[in-house]
Amino acid sequence: KQVKPFDYVVFGATGDLTMRKLLPAFYYRLLSGEVPDSARIIGTARSPLDRATYQGRARDALKRFVAPADFKEAQVERFLNMVYYVSLDGSKADSNWEGLSGLLSEGPQDHVRVFYFATAPNLYEAVSANLHAKGLVTDDARVVLEKPIGTDLATADEINTGVGKFFKENNIFRIDHYLGKETVQDVIALRFANPLLSAVWSGDYIKSVQITAAETVGVEGRAAYYDTSGALRDMVQNHLLQVLCLVAMEPPASLEADAVRDAKVAVLKSLRPLAGDRLTSDTVRGQYVAGEINEENVRGYLEELGHASNTETYVALRAEVDTPRWKNVPFYIRTAKRLHRKVSEIVITFKPAETNLFPQAPKANVLVIRVQPDEGLTWHLSVKDPQDDSFELRDATMDTHFGPQFKVRYPDAYERLLLDAVRGYPVLFIRRDEVEAAWRWVAPIMEAWANGTVPMSQYAAGSWGPEEATAMLAEHGDTWHEAI
Ligand code: BG6
Repeated sequence: KQVKPFDYVVFGATGDLTMRKLLPAFYYRLLSGEVPDSARIIGTARSPLDRATYQGRARDALKRFVAPADFKEAQVERFLNMVYYVSLDGSKADSNWEGLSGLLSEGPQDHVRVFYFATAPNLYEAVSANLHAKGLVTDDARVVLEKPIGTDLATADEINTGVGKFFKENNIFRIDHYLGKETVQDVIALRFANPLLSAVWSGDYIKSVQITAAETVGVEGRAAYYDTSGALRDMVQNHLLQVLCLVAMEPPASLEADAVRDAKVAVLKSLRPLAGDRLTSDTVRGQYVAGEINEENVRGYLEELGHASNTETYVALRAEVDTPRWKNVPFYIRTAKRLHRKVSEIVITFKPAETNLFPQAPKANVLVIRVQPDEGLTWHLSVKDPQDDSFELRDATMDTHFGPQFKVRYPDAYERLLLDAVRGYPVLFIRRDEVEAAWRWVAPIMEAWANGTVPMSQYAAGSWGPEEATAMLAEHGDTWHEAI
């Protein structure tokens, strides 16, 4: 179970992602016995901190982001002993590279070496070039690239080519943390391990698919990044399209990385390009205005920013996968900040039974895959109404809650992914052609939105989004599934 000893060098080690996600993820894997004691986590960033100060920050991060019951003093000490810090500007050739090479060369030489780039993506090439020039890129050294890989196809290409000069493609691990979510991987298990589902997994039986990633948070401290990105680039191009791929892909030949990635890229390439009138009828973009979430008044996006902006905090799309399996099945995708509730889910609505047996037409079966929180499944089935002597039907729900059922904590997505990079197991990482195919599909949407073809809708913080998104589905006789 334990991975090989490793040296994990994190660029951007004082940033929010490292504190909130990466350090706690390493800690949890130490608790589960997967991290050997000789492993080292080497944080680097520009701040001139010494090791003890950085260890103090790491401790604070664990205190904040690890469940209180899991914060165990002896284990925390063990963990902090693995944590090092080098003050270094990775994008500059004349920075403190001796500090990093010194640390790497004084450790055991059989450690798996992983570089994790959690900095601005436009620095990825420069950091790779410097690592290479200093002789730190060993033959099987891996590099993990955080999203976003670029802001469009051209910049993604530049980054991929730039990093590709110094690392081999099979050593490049492009992270999409949605693939690290257990319930996202469950789509593969559910679809291919259950004949009950695989038999009906097509447009013959499925009427529509909805993929939602709703958040209650606003832009937090990230306005500078977020306002240049928006929800389409931040969530759809990567996370939601990846989920869509798993729902829609043909059965892969195996669970080998390339078999799965070939199947996913085939989906991305079969997404019908949104063009012409469909850009206005099948895309909705919106910004939140002031409202109330959990009894708290929150400001609108523009008020938070303090200036005008054309950046969307809400996206809803109607996509189509042009394969025989999915003929005429809409894939509705939506994601936003400041919605009513934090929930990510996949909703499969089946075609209703064609029967005249009952006084009224039966409702459609619906399967909800609850990605988070409360990981599990809900089935909506029609049963006989017990209070009725004719054959009136009622909607019965069948719920499973994986956490309590398996008596396990559902791990954070980063835990597995961080160690998969050490294992050299890339199935849950994105191949270059996937990134590019995804950018290619969102390009016409970005263009139409940038030139104002699609008006900016508004929605109150705490609502489920703009009316236009409801109308988009209504046009096809569909409604959004509101998980309340
Ligand atoms: C990140 C986005 O990739 O995913 C954030 O940059 C977003 O804006 C986050 O908040 C959502 O992830 P999760 O795991 O909380 O659904």
